[in-house]
Parts: sequence; structure tokens; C-alpha cells
Amino acid sequence: MRETFLPFTRPMVGEEEIAEIIDSIHSGWITTGPKSAKFEEALCAYNDVKHCMAMNSATTAQEITMQVMGLQPGDEVITTGLTWVSTLSTVILQGGVPVLVDIDPKTLNLDPAKLEAAITPRTKGIIPVHLTGLPVDMDAVWAVAKKHGLWVIEDAAQAMGAHYKGKKIGSDPRSVMSVYSFHPNKNMTTGEGGAIAFHSDEYAARIQRLRFHGIERDAWKRQSKEGSVHIDVMEPARKANFMDLQAAMGLHQIKKLDGFNARRGELFRRYLELMKDMDEVMLPWEGNADLGHCFHLFVLRVHPEKAGLDRDAFVTELKVRNIGTGIHYKPSHQHTFYRDYYATHTQGLPKEGLPHTDWSGDRLCSIPLWPGLSEEDQDQVVAEIKDVIAKAKVKVAVP
Ligand SMILES: Cc1ncc(COP(=O)(O)O)c(C=O)c1O
Repeated sequence: MRETFLPFTRPMVGEEEIAEIIDSIHSGWITTGPKSAKFEEALCAYNDVKHCMAMNSATTAQEITMQVMGLQPGDEVITTGLTWVSTLSTVILQGGVPVLVDIDPKTLNLDPAKLEAAITPRTKGIIPVHLTGLPVDMDAVWAVAKKHGLWVIEDAAQAMGAHYKGKKIGSDPRSVMSVYSFHPNKNMTTGEGGAIAFHSDEYAARIQRLRFHGIERDAWKRQSKEGSVHIDVMEPARKANFMDLQAAMGLHQIKKLDGFNARRGELFRRYLELMKDMDEVMLPWEGNADLGHCFHLFVLRVHPEKAGLDRDAFVTELKVRNIGTGIHYKPSHQHTFYRDYYATHTQGLPKEGLPHTDWSGDRLCSIPLWPGLSEEDQDQVVAEIKDVIAKAKVKVAVP
């Protein structure tokens, strides 16, 4: 057994990031400033998109996208229940109703074939979520959106570096906006942070205002020699700006991202190879030429009837053996708030429920994956998984 605990992920922050943060501190400008502007330029270049606006989190970014789209009380937005709850809560906070459709069990992403049945006269948009870093089949989503006059905003929190049909996620103007996250668990990090990517100039000034007190210009421009000391507030807004301390990390992380993702891919495929003969777990799909995975998570699903134990017991056993796991995610509609919410907002759930979401939600588990994970650690994870299952099978006499 391992002597030290192996977490399911770990941020890859190097000496370059540390030196850049120290440089920011010495410069006398640590909040939103020149490095944040440079980071946004790097994001635009990397994602092949005209505008990228960084802020304190993807959750705030999602909330701002809903405000920009002018969501009105009762407006419906179609999304998946298998996501982080911010995908839903940011719709509700703007007065909207998140309408959930079931997933495709192969991808864990929303099943585009289920979209049309969820559309009503109140439907305004669709939020596809590229869960685990595997892109949603966007052509199918855009086709439905176009037919019914809906907007599409991509939740790309887990998908920096993923591709759809050879193009970066967030780069296609058929989606009005896309949101990335730079939380420490993500493929690149700025400590905390998120960004909205979009093509249309018409949103730029509004998003700038909505992330910073309703003021149109950044404080650092005001306080520079060329700037004016006068400000004007255009509307009430939150304070969600991005700091140069975060950008200092991001400027180096984004240069390393393709290398990180390539290594994630190697480790992902190595897991597939090491576990290919196990029928007690369902292994994740690695995508294809159209759906270019960025390998954010390696999510396996435990078959309790074959493994001799359920997912929760499996997670507990691995923890005892010093192997960390994650659950991405408990389906949103199973959380206490949403159980009550959908009891009264019945338009938000299909009559038949979300059987595939529930089935996968009960079984899924993310095992350790990050670019610095050693192959030795990976071998140990797989050996412990096999041992946990072998012992559980003996205990309950699974043939
Ligand atoms: C699918 C998804 N959407 C949104 C978020 C929110 O990101 P943040 O933590 O940057 O607010 C996350 C974060 O885990 C996520 O996984």
C-alpha cells in the first residue's frame, strides 16, 4: 500500500509562474493591469476568438453571460444535469429555469437528440457542457438552436485545449459565448479564475462593466499617467475582476497547456490499456477526430453487480489505500435544493426523468490524472483498483 496520499489531481505550477508572480509584486501593480490584458490576448490567440475577458471564476462568468443575454423570469435554458451546479444556479440567479435533458451514456454529455423534446415557447437558449474535456457533438446542438432561434453558450470550464472538428472549443461563432475555468483542478490554472470568450464586439463593453462595478474602464488605466481620474458608473454590477497575480500564473500556464494535455492524453490511454480486460468497470471514451478530448478527467463507472461493491464503497476502499478520487458530478437534480426546486418547477425535468444521468451518477468516479502523475503511481492506482474489486468479489461471492 502507498505510504502517502495520492490526490486525484494536482496543479502543475512551476518556477516560471512563481518568478512572474514575484515580478508582479515588485512592480507595484498586483490587481487587474497589464499582465491581465496580456493574458486575455494570449487567451484570444490560443482559442482563436476575438474577445476573451477574464474574471474571478467561471461561475461569475456564467452568471454574467446570463445577464448579457437578458434572461427574464421564467425563461427556460436547456442543459444537462451532469455538471457542476453553477451551470444551473447561474440561470436561476437571473430568474431563468434550467431545463435538464438526459445524457448520452457513451460521452457523459447531454444527448443532442433529446433537445427538441425539451423546447417550449419559453426556451431561450442551450448550454452544452463539455464534461471531462470531451466535446459535445456541437453540429447537432447548433442545428437545433438555429431551427428554433435559440442562443448557445458553451460551458467549456473543463475544456481548455479541447477541439471540435479540428477547431478549438469556444472558437466557433455559432455559439454566442463560451466560458472557461482556471480553477486549480483544471488543465491550466490561475489559482482561481475564469473567462468568457466571444466574437461579437457588441458584448465587450457590457461584460467589462458587469465584471467591475458597472464602470467601463479598468482602474489601472485610470491610474496611469495617460488616464483620467474621473469615472462613470453605467449600471449596478458585481466586482469580479481578474488580478495580475492570477495573470502571472496564467501567462505561463497557457504556454504549457498543449504539453500538459498531450501528457494527460498519454496517461489516459495508458489507463485504458491497463484496465482493458476489466468488465467490473466501464471505461471512458477517448473521443475521435471530431471530438478532440483534452483529457481533463478519467471517469470510470463501477458496475456494482460485477465488482461486488458499489461506487461509494469503492471510493472508501481506495481512500483507505491512500488513493484519492473525485465525483464529477453528483447529478444536479439530486442535490437537496434542486430536488425541491424541480418538485415545483416540473417543466425543468422530462416526465420520464433522467435515467442515464442517474445511472451514471450512481456509478462514476474520477481516478488520479494530471500531467505530473508518474507511471509508477498510475500502476499502483490500477493495482489497488483490481485488488479492491478482487477482495469485494470474494466477500459477496460474485462469480
Ligand atoms: C462543468 C463546470 N462548469 C462550471 C464550473 C465552475 O468553475 P469555477 O470553479 O471556475 O467557478 C466548473 C468547475 O468545476 C465545472 O466543472
